[in-house]
Amino acid sequence: MTGALVAAMRAHHAELQEKLQEQEKVNTWARTGSAQALQDLVCFLSGELLPHARAEEAHLYPAVEPLIRAWGQATATMRINHEFIEDLVRRIGSEADPETLRELILGLKAVFRLHLEKEERVYLPLIADHLSAEAQERILRAMHAEGEAHRGLAGAHRPEGLGAAADAGAVNPRPTGGSPAASPPAPGEAPGPPPGGPG
Ligand SMILES: [Fe+2]
Ligand SMILES: [Fe+2]
Repeated sequence: MTGALVAAMRAHHAELQEKLQEQEKVNTWARTGSAQALQDLVCFLSGELLPHARAEEAHLYPAVEPLIRAWGQATATMRINHEFIEDLVRRIGSEADPETLRELILGLKAVFRLHLEKEERVYLPLIADHLSAEAQERILRAMHAEGEAHRGLAGAHRPEGLGAAADAGAVNPRPTGGSPAASPPAPGEAPGPPPGGPG
């Protein structure tokens, strides 16, 4: 089942991607240092790309939330992050051209930083507030064992050990009434330190 919204979203995403990847403005600016080329790029980013994101937050995400709870998987987006990170690591390991290599490394840095922010600002506060100390210990041990098993192999970190939490049945019940105990930090607020285990 598809509909007007799905088709329009795909089309708009393709359009934004195309505009960003055509790189004409970026290349022109890099080649000439032209203030006009930079201005064009900034206009596109703030005039088209950011409004798209804001419209999604205001209208699309509220509609998606209950769909994920009913039919989706909340961590599916993070697994896609890992796929991208693994692909970038693989390409970095086999790329010979220095300029392409530089772009891949910069891309990986950006993707990885965003990924860590999401884990630290969304997942870790939930775990801290709602998972028992015993369950946290079990997961940590499983992740360390997983890390040891994969040491020396190419690839991003793979915290599949998190699945142990479900097996453990150790999730503390959601508090009833009052405000949620675990809310992500406000924009600009520094996320907490990463755990000592695999990052
Ligand atoms: Fe989008
Ligand atoms: Fe991760």
